[in-house]
Amino acid sequence: MRTQVAIIGAGPSGLLLSQLLHKAGVDCVVFERRSPEYVLSRIRAGVLEQGTVDMLEQAGVSERMRKEGLPHDGFTMAVGDTRLRIDLNGLTSGKNVMVYGQTEVTKDLMDAHEARSAQVIYEAENVTPHDFETDHPRVTYEKDGVSHEITCDFICGCDGYHGVSRTSVPKAAITEFEKVYPFGWLGILSYVKPVDHELIYANHPNGFALASMRSETLSRYYIQVPAGTDVNKWSDDALWDELKIRLGAQAAANMETGPTIEKSIAPLRSFVSEPLRFGRMFLAGDAAHIVPPTGAKGLNLAASDIHYLSNGLIEFYGEKSSAGVDHYSQKALSRIWKAERFSWWMTSILHQFPDLGAFNARIQQSEMDYLASSHAAQVSLAENYVGLPF
Ligand code: FAD
Ligand code: DHB
Repeated sequence: MRTQVAIIGAGPSGLLLSQLLHKAGVDCVVFERRSPEYVLSRIRAGVLEQGTVDMLEQAGVSERMRKEGLPHDGFTMAVGDTRLRIDLNGLTSGKNVMVYGQTEVTKDLMDAHEARSAQVIYEAENVTPHDFETDHPRVTYEKDGVSHEITCDFICGCDGYHGVSRTSVPKAAITEFEKVYPFGWLGILSYVKPVDHELIYANHPNGFALASMRSETLSRYYIQVPAGTDVNKWSDDALWDELKIRLGAQAAANMETGPTIEKSIAPLRSFVSEPLRFGRMFLAGDAAHIVPPTGAKGLNLAASDIHYLSNGLIEFYGEKSSAGVDHYSQKALSRIWKAERFSWWMTSILHQFPDLGAFNARIQQSEMDYLASSHAAQVSLAENYVGLPF
């Protein structure tokens, strides 16, 4: 079997890339080790930048998002006694973000693939990239116990942090940068009315809390928990009580509580691997970088990688120019590091760091007081939150 572009991973990066390449007439096949149901069961990101929304539009998968997504013009930050609304719209001359879950984005992309009978091979085992340092790369995999091989022009590793693409690169060819935080986020979903029509990020002495949503009847909440916490130690009642404490009296008064339909813990980490190109293999999305979720950059960063990569590949086939693919790594990394900086900064100001003590608490409070008193600081926060230009 042969294709032009072999894509490993059918998360948002892989499916968005495949959809954009298809629209431009580039042939590709996607290999995913899980089932579609499993991929859809992973509850993750919820906030889309304008650039991501535009890309979904360009990919022809924006119809349901336009109907069901919730545009947000601002959000609230609360640190200690200081509470501040960030007016995204006013601070960025009219930009906003869209609250629409990653699960829904993935479902819309899956439906578009199904509608055109695209080649997405789910439950593919032992997917392995080979010979990407040569002009004849290939991917091998097993399906239902039978081995297969596909030859291609390029391999795109969109297979997340635990994928096979990055780990197939010789160690000497790759540099990794990592910061692990001593806490995670315990996230829940519950069919209750959101506590506010906008998101609230709070730093309370007990730790960080975030009130978010997926719709007007489905709420998403997170609290900071120490690394290694057993999710079963948190009963629903204890969680609601803690959310009320950390989000403050006003939110507590408006909070509807109910059974949780999802409860899981995500560890927090900053990670970048460089470069993003190894001969004829590229890395994109979580395969190449991780941000802590504070500021909702993970999925949006995956989308901006795909913007640069899809344009490069389309240019390669359409205009017979390798300029776009040659510059992919450098262009994407420049934006990735800015999002890494922003996510690290949001994480630093909004969490309790057990080992940093009283000095850090004062710095956090003064960061927040500066933000509250400085239009320039708010503009900087808002332009990063809505997403830097591609
Ligand atoms: P992924 O979504 O990880 O997709 C990779 C795909 O590759 C998966 O389907 C996987 O099954 C497949 N795969 C892996 N290995 C192989 C293999 N060997 N062969 C074939 N297929 C393979 N971001 C936010 O902005 N806000 C959040 O609240 C948030 N919460 C998160 C919670 C968790 C637990 C995690 C892990 C991430 C979270 N993120 C969040 C980050 C965001 O979800 C990711 O940035 C986004 O999913 C990246 O998309 P991706 O397609 O690059 O990777
Ligand atoms: C959500 C996640 C985030 O990381 C964030 O900053 C905002 C919202 C969410 O899952 O809704």
